[in-house]
Amino acid sequence: MNKLFFFVTVAVLSINCLAVCSARMVHNLTTDQEALVDFKTRIISDPYNILVNNWSTNASICNWIGVSCSRKWQRVTALDFSNFGFSGTIAPHLGNLTFLGYLNISSNNFTGIIPLELSHLRRLKEIDMGSNNFTGVVPPWLGTIPELRHILLDKNSFSGSIPTSLLHNNSKLQTLQLAYNFLNGNIPQEIRNLSSLEYLNLQYNMLTGSIPFGIFNMSSLRELHLTNNSLSGWLPNDICDGIPELTVFSLSRNQLSGQIPSTIYNCRYLEVLSLSHNHFNGSIPSAIGSLNMLQQLSLGSNNFIGGIPLEIGNLSNLEKLSVSGLSQIGPIPSFIFNMSTLKLIQLVDNDMSGSLPVDIYLNLPKLVILDLHSNQFTGFIAFLEARSHAMLIYISHD
Ligand SMILES: *[C@@H]1O[C@H](CO)[C@@H](O)[C@H](O)[C@H]1NC(C)=O
Ligand SMILES: *[C@@H]1O[C@H](CO)[C@@H](O)[C@H](O)[C@H]1NC(C)=O
Ligand SMILES: *[C@@H]1O[C@H](CO)[C@@H](O)[C@H](O)[C@H]1NC(C)=O
Ligand SMILES: *[C@@H]1O[C@H](CO)[C@@H](O)[C@H](O)[C@H]1NC(C)=O
Ligand SMILES: *[C@@H]1O[C@H](CO)[C@@H](O)[C@H](O)[C@H]1NC(C)=O
Ligand SMILES: *[C@@H]1O[C@H](CO)[C@@H](O)[C@H](O)[C@H]1NC(C)=O
Ligand SMILES: *[C@@H]1O[C@H](CO)[C@@H](O)[C@H](O)[C@H]1NC(C)=O
Ligand SMILES: *[C@@H]1O[C@H](CO)[C@@H](O)[C@H](O)[C@H]1NC(C)=O
Ligand SMILES: *[C@@H]1O[C@H](CO)[C@@H](O)[C@H](O)[C@H]1NC(C)=O
Ligand SMILES: *[C@@H]1O[C@H](CO)[C@@H](O)[C@H](O)[C@H]1NC(C)=O
Ligand SMILES: *[C@@H]1O[C@H](CO)[C@@H](O)[C@H](O)[C@H]1NC(C)=O
Ligand SMILES: *[C@@H]1O[C@H](CO)[C@@H](O)[C@H](O)[C@H]1NC(C)=O
Repeated sequence: MNKLFFFVTVAVLSINCLAVCSARMVHNLTTDQEALVDFKTRIISDPYNILVNNWSTNASICNWIGVSCSRKWQRVTALDFSNFGFSGTIAPHLGNLTFLGYLNISSNNFTGIIPLELSHLRRLKEIDMGSNNFTGVVPPWLGTIPELRHILLDKNSFSGSIPTSLLHNNSKLQTLQLAYNFLNGNIPQEIRNLSSLEYLNLQYNMLTGSIPFGIFNMSSLRELHLTNNSLSGWLPNDICDGIPELTVFSLSRNQLSGQIPSTIYNCRYLEVLSLSHNHFNGSIPSAIGSLNMLQQLSLGSNNFIGGIPLEIGNLSNLEKLSVSGLSQIGPIPSFIFNMSTLKLIQLVDNDMSGSLPVDIYLNLPKLVILDLHSNQFTGFIAFLEARSHAMLIYISHD
């Protein structure tokens, strides 16, 4: 028994040493240097002459602009090459930087795929490759990096679906930013397993299917951006019970239907609520009027019946109000002209008629844009033009 225990312990220790010791033997600052020199050779455009002026082969790589090293281990720990104007492809040798915790190459012109070798970066905590032109699939191996907290791959040309392996076990992930790509397929159910996720942005892709209800139980979620996809289905009745901290809720430009659940009032920290350009029906819930942190409210181009509820007038922090395509026959609800925080009012194509109050500027000192086109208003345009200051006014009769 004791002998067996001893044997097992020694065996485990030697396996550990094999892994750790060999890693030390294979990778040191010299191999980091080789990796960055390889990285350098694949950069084909360098408009700010960084390669020549700031990445001298004579100098230690730790003195290169954008490179940070750990003093203790003498290894590269962070790369920030954001906005360097580089184009080219990513050298697989970057995967040899085994002490790397932070990789930011956002806002360059890199192309090609993200090499599989980067999956060797086991200490990576943040990866930002946004605003480049990467192609291929979102790397599924990102889900195997244990400490990863922030993944930003937005504004590229990634295609395929969201890999479920990215979502299985990533309990530390706080940011998943995949907006402005060409992703298709459903949002995987497994997304609910990202138990620390605070920021989810999938907007401007081509995602289909319904929103997995599990998303509405991700209690750490602060921002949910799903605008401009092809999502369908409806919202759960207990929509905000499981995501009380939500501040941004953007579902515009999809094909969602059904009613807006009145339990929306449980998202009481909401600052942005954007539901426009969907097929929502029923009436606009008056409960929205109790979301008193709300700054932006966009509800237009749905199939709502009835008008804008009176309670909306209680939103004392509202800056942008956009409600279009209603069949609200009659004058503009007068409470809107008492909401002094408003900077933008967009009430387009609502069958509204009558005229605007004479004292419109008195109670709307911050108003910059007043967009009322495609309604039935009469007899006030000359008056508005005479009084207009720094305002953009769109009022046509069409
Ligand atoms: C790095 O390791 C290689 C062997 O893998 C060795 O030849 C070289 O001297 C080491 N360099 C430093 C700076 O330790
Ligand atoms: C890069 O090198 C050039 C020329 O030596 C220098 O003028 C510039 O300040 C350096 N850039 C940075 C960000 O240090
Ligand atoms: C690099 O070092 C070599 C000799 O060690 C020297 O001739 C050369 O001028 C140096 N280049 C720069 C850019 O400092
Ligand atoms: C990418 O390259 C194009 C020209 O090829 C250039 O106009 C653009 O500014 C570059 N973008 C970045 C972020 O460097
Ligand atoms: C570095 O990475 C490249 C490509 O992944 C590999 O071929 C090479 O063996 C690695 N070098 C070292 C010293 O680890
Ligand atoms: C990457 O760099 C950009 C530009 O400097 C910055 O805005 C962004 O926050 C950085 N990304 C991360 C994850 O730190
Ligand atoms: C991205 O690359 C594709 C080809 O791979 C090209 O057609 C497209 O214009 C590029 N986009 C940008 C913004 O550079
Ligand atoms: C999601 O997490 C639960 C535990 O929280 C686990 O039982 C389940 O297997 C995970 N699902 C996937 C697909 O990883
Ligand atoms: C999730 O992580 C646990 C340990 O943290 C591991 O045992 C399990 O195999 C992982 N599951 C998946 C699907 O990667
Ligand atoms: C959230 O989880 C609770 C308990 O697990 C469940 O009763 C509720 O239906 C879930 N809500 C959604 C929207 O999935
Ligand atoms: C999404 O955005 C693209 C490009 O901006 C646009 O062509 C497309 O019509 C939008 N889709 C929807 C559903 O609005
Ligand atoms: C809303 O639309 C759904 C179908 O999308 C329909 O079943 C429901 O009856 C509609 N409700 C109202 C109030 O129009």
